[in-house]
Amino acid sequence: MKVVENGAGRLAGKIALVTGASAGIGRATALALAREGAAVVATGRRVSELESLEQECKAFGGNLRFLAGDLGSRDFAAQLVSFSGDVTIFVNNAGVLTYAPFVELTDEQNEEMFHINVLASIRICQLVAKGMAARERGHIVMMTSLSARNINRFSAVYGATKHAMAAITKGIRLELSSSGLKVTEIAPGMVDTDIRKGNTNAEVVKAVATRAYAPLSPDDVVQAVIYAVCTSPNCCPDLIELRPTFA
Ligand SMILES: NC(=O)c1ccc[n+]([C@@H]2O[C@H](COP(=O)([O-])OP(=O)(O)OC[C@H]3O[C@@H](n4cnc5c(N)ncnc54)[C@H](OP(=O)(O)O)[C@@H]3O)[C@@H](O)[C@H]2O)c1
Repeated sequence: MKVVENGAGRLAGKIALVTGASAGIGRATALALAREGAAVVATGRRVSELESLEQECKAFGGNLRFLAGDLGSRDFAAQLVSFSGDVTIFVNNAGVLTYAPFVELTDEQNEEMFHINVLASIRICQLVAKGMAARERGHIVMMTSLSARNINRFSAVYGATKHAMAAITKGIRLELSSSGLKVTEIAPGMVDTDIRKGNTNAEVVKAVATRAYAPLSPDDVVQAVIYAVCTSPNCCPDLIELRPTFA
């Protein structure tokens, strides 16, 4: 299907692919990119959430279509890239998180975090970056975390996945900036989304409930994404860290 481009907005004429767009930061990002005039391609596994995103976007005249599937699947990643067309903005955002004491994390939890946050994320990024490099145009936005540089209790493995993605981000920038690509890492602290809702370990729940700050909102993160992708052609914000202020 051909993407119909909006006529107005700072991102008119651009195609933006957002992973993890069925919820949280990705959903808010997809809407904001559409409001700026980009033709957005949204993805996630939950069809009903993507349908409601599509409806919300339609209500303000935004241009958004979606393809639902599991990013952990090699076939789906390839299908998504061909569905998306000539992507100019790629927000590599999908991710999972399990906070638990290190010795209690299961193999399955560790594997899922590395499978989605690292391996699936690398794979889709390679596929998209290849096309961008061939067209000598594109902006990759990697959603990492403050955990890409600091480790807190209960987040050793999640933090390791984000450290890995910060390294990959630097490597992509080194190799592909000469092909006209911009690469921005956005590293938020705690954001108010459902990503922790499956974390039921009593120590973790207590630590989260007694923290001394309020979480960021998805819109705080969206402002950073929009700033990054709307800067002048000669400017690329390499790293934006977003820290909640202490209450
Ligand atoms: N919330 C925070 O405190 C925080 C802080 C720093 C960084 N981050 C990072 O920001 C990103 C978004 O997090 P969020 O807080 O917005 O989380 P969220 O609300 O839980 O959303 C996660 C998104 O990732 C998608 N996803 C997960 N597994 C997937 C899979 N196997 N295949 C396809 N899509 C998958 C989910 O879609 P489906 O469930 O529909 O598949 C969903 O759209 C993550 O990379 C996270 O690590 C979050």
